[in-house]
Amino acid sequence: MTTWLTDEFVDRVRSESDLVSVISTYVPIKRKGKQFWGCCPFHNEKTPSFAVTPDKGFFYCFGCHAGGDVFKFISMIENISYREAIIFQGEKLNIPLPERTRSPEEAAREEKLKRLREAHELAGKFFHNCLTLTKYGAAGLAYFHSRGINDNIIEEFNLGFAPDAWDKLTTAFAKRGIDTGLLLESGLVLKRQKGQGEYDRFRNRVMIPITDERGRICGFGGRVIDNGSPKYLNSPETVLFNKRKLLFGLDKAHRAIGQEGFSLVVEGYMDVISVSAAGVKNVVASLGTAFTMDQCKKLLRYAPAIYFCYDSDNAGQEAIARAIDIAAGTNAIIKVVQLPDGKDPDEYIRRHGVDAFRQVVKGALSVVDFRLKHIMAHSDVSGLEGRLRVLAEMLPVLASIRNTVERSAYVSKVSQLLSVSENDILAELGKKSRRVSDKSTSVRTMRSVVRQVDDAGRRAGRTVIRMVWDEPALLEHFSSLVPIGSLPDPIHRQILTALMEKYREGEAIRDITGLAHLGDEAVEELSRAIVEDLGEEDRSLLYEACVRQLRRNYLVSQYEVHSRNAEELYRQGDAKYLEELAISQKIKKEMDELQGVNY
Ligand code: UTP
Ligand code: MN
Repeated sequence: MTTWLTDEFVDRVRSESDLVSVISTYVPIKRKGKQFWGCCPFHNEKTPSFAVTPDKGFFYCFGCHAGGDVFKFISMIENISYREAIIFQGEKLNIPLPERTRSPEEAAREEKLKRLREAHELAGKFFHNCLTLTKYGAAGLAYFHSRGINDNIIEEFNLGFAPDAWDKLTTAFAKRGIDTGLLLESGLVLKRQKGQGEYDRFRNRVMIPITDERGRICGFGGRVIDNGSPKYLNSPETVLFNKRKLLFGLDKAHRAIGQEGFSLVVEGYMDVISVSAAGVKNVVASLGTAFTMDQCKKLLRYAPAIYFCYDSDNAGQEAIARAIDIAAGTNAIIKVVQLPDGKDPDEYIRRHGVDAFRQVVKGALSVVDFRLKHIMAHSDVSGLEGRLRVLAEMLPVLASIRNTVERSAYVSKVSQLLSVSENDILAELGKKSRRVSDKSTSVRTMRSVVRQVDDAGRRAGRTVIRMVWDEPALLEHFSSLVPIGSLPDPIHRQILTALMEKYREGEAIRDITGLAHLGDEAVEELSRAIVEDLGEEDRSLLYEACVRQLRRNYLVSQYEVHSRNAEELYRQGDAKYLEELAISQKIKKEMDELQGVNY
């Protein structure tokens, strides 16, 4: 499925795409010399760190490290894959897609999926029109208005109404010649128990279309407008509607999630609608089931933090505890928003307004604080025995804190809370940690730390990548002095190895579609190298300095290897140690010659 776009097609779309005009339809950017600068659309910032270099066709954000070419930009901002971005842009430019042959099964499957999608879109229109254009919708409109949901929100969320009748949708769809099998499969209609024919699943309910992250309708939730039961009736699972993977509202929230740096997860459809309508856009809901790992991973694509804001009743609090357990298996930064009195976010906003809500969100608790608070709330700490029992409950929470600085801060906090000495807590914790394995610092934390350490070696590596990009022939020269495998940064090794392969095969190295197997981090670093300003310095002097820096780095490691060998051989009484010694001396000499070169 992935490789049928022809090179000609991709090349043509790329060459006809103007990076600056594509980007400026989404983000205001201003020219500054050879580059354009603006505020990054992928994270929240007030001073521009988002740079576009049109003559090279790359963008890079010095704040959040997003970077890539025109297709990468489109894929990120439109929330589609790189491949889909090529097609998307091709369609915009009216460049015909290349034909290709598909297997009959593949074609049939795609055709069915397409028709199922069409049926859902049509049903969405049907319910929406019933609500807004027909007399049947009056009860639904009255219901929405009574909940403060105005006509703008109704349009934005494409809300609808299923008439109070058995077969309005069934008949309307039959008239349009829509296949009954397809409708049964979508769950929009059901087979009559007795007699022939079908009837509507959703009747006399306000209808909420559930869309995927790209805004395509996959199913519906229908709410009673009285006290009937079930309160919400949902579409059944279909090939389109997978409750464990979908998140309600994500299509409208993903950009805001990236900008705010966190997603706000609430329990109900109405919560999403209400919170989003009030202007807090980074909000989604899981679909009436427990929060899943798939949903967690999906959210982490947009921002590293997830705030849970569930109902303040017991069920809600338990659901949070379960969600935390799920998310603990990922690198997510988890926070818990606790609503002081309102039962759910929708009611809270209606009662106290959105500013109060924002304040509460701002005050979200860390998982540790949430747990400690939870334990304290259920305990009596007046007597010594009570305090010890609470401490016993808190120890596993403390032991789970991976960051040592953070852990000692909490130890001191707990010591004050319970009037127990810090040393005693630490001693108990010591006993515990021997049982709890604790070596895995979160990958994300590591990643960001590694990225922050931008030492001379890394800068030199990046400058070399840039120069090689501008002048591929340099690769030969560079790799003869510095084996690519000796570069200090693994991402740089990956990039240069990939460029080297293309170069050796005589391909143009500047086509990052051909570098599709590079991971996100490598694409980002490559973009940074290409976009970064090298200053006014003479290019050849700069290159030389970088090579020296990296060669020295290489020599240091070689020196260590050979002197260790020499020592070993000497200890074994092997006369060959002299050879190793000679090599290491030679290396040392070159190292000394390179001494004092600073880049
Ligand atoms: P809630 O009962 O908390 O919903 O269920 P809510 O959003 O506050 O409902 P309103 O405000 O009374 O309209 C939370 C979510 O659980 C699912 C729905 O996704 C709902 O939004 N749910 C609930 C069902 O699927 N079926 C039900 O019968 C009830
Ligand atoms: Mn509610």
